[in-house]
Amino acid sequence: MSPTGTWSYPTAIRFGAGRLKELPDACAAAGIKKPLLVTDRGLAPLDITTRALDILEGAGLGRAMFAEVDPNPNEKNLAAGIEAYKAGGHDGVIAFGGGSGLDLGKMVAFMCGQTRPVWDFEDIGDWWTRADASAIAPNICVPTTAGTGSEVGRASVITNSETHVKKIIFHPKVLPSVVIADPELTVGMPKAITAGTGLDAFAHCVEAFSSPHYHPMSQGIALEGMRLVIENLPRAYATPDDLEARAHMMSAAAMGATAFQKGLGAIHALSHPVGAVFNTHHGTTNAVCMPAVLDLNEPKIRDRFDRAAPYLGIEGGYDGFRAFVQEFNDGFGIPRQLRDLGVTAGRVDDMVAMALEDPSCGGNPVTLDADNVRALYEAVI
Ligand SMILES: [Fe+2]
Repeated sequence: MSPTGTWSYPTAIRFGAGRLKELPDACAAAGIKKPLLVTDRGLAPLDITTRALDILEGAGLGRAMFAEVDPNPNEKNLAAGIEAYKAGGHDGVIAFGGGSGLDLGKMVAFMCGQTRPVWDFEDIGDWWTRADASAIAPNICVPTTAGTGSEVGRASVITNSETHVKKIIFHPKVLPSVVIADPELTVGMPKAITAGTGLDAFAHCVEAFSSPHYHPMSQGIALEGMRLVIENLPRAYATPDDLEARAHMMSAAAMGATAFQKGLGAIHALSHPVGAVFNTHHGTTNAVCMPAVLDLNEPKIRDRFDRAAPYLGIEGGYDGFRAFVQEFNDGFGIPRQLRDLGVTAGRVDDMVAMALEDPSCGGNPVTLDADNVRALYEAVI
């Protein structure tokens, strides 16, 4: 079986090795004649980015790029991106990269025609209806990692540069018009990033699967997403050019982000403040937090992992899964404590408060409060 396909769920996805060359077709499908490619500083000089720009230029679509994007994109990056978009007379965005390039690119397309500040569109209630939907430009997402799944999401995470708090900005029209998911773009990832991003996809699937909310479709997607990560992340890590493993990881990333409509949980609620305060890698931070969160949630999730374990090829039900997660982390060189990522206990009070305000809290099977969140931080730092 060749992992190639053309899907419309949850948006149009051109999936398969080599499909980056369809970028001009994707622009035509999205009605974009003068795209601005948005990526982050680290990716800007890489061959895959040059290849994308060459393909655009070869099709008469120019080679405009904006790459002043930080690893945790903020409102200043957004303002600069919008300025570049307007100055270049663009009519759509190609968001290219890992989470930062994709999230900021989606926001440039969303915000280029709005008059209110971006914080007015935080994912709270119906705040998204404040936006002028007719002024939203189309975006095409091209992921270059396999983890965030931002390419199938209707939101972006933007960090407030003053408070360091990460905000989720949501609008239904932020969903990309077209996704090009080409696993060839991920083969050059450093090993630590392959592991960290892949374990972010795993955390999305585990948290969505654990969430108590009713969403059977997401439940099924999360289960298969977990299986794909378990079977393919070790392969992609050991053999970076294993395109089949890379393809399955790219699927798992999109599946994790599709599934977490059902809810995330304490892993992400803990990890977002840590990332905002200490600038740690998101997926790696999640991986360190996962064992302690499974322990907290165990009374509520034991049954569902007892059912899932055989499908995942794991013996021993929930207990087997819990033991597996630690071994899985260890196999990728993930530290057991956040202190090994430079996190200190000095800001725990702040982080507890931030975690309890994080929207991910609502999906955790055990209700989170100041006591259990503090205990989790004490266990993982
Ligand atoms: Fe995540």
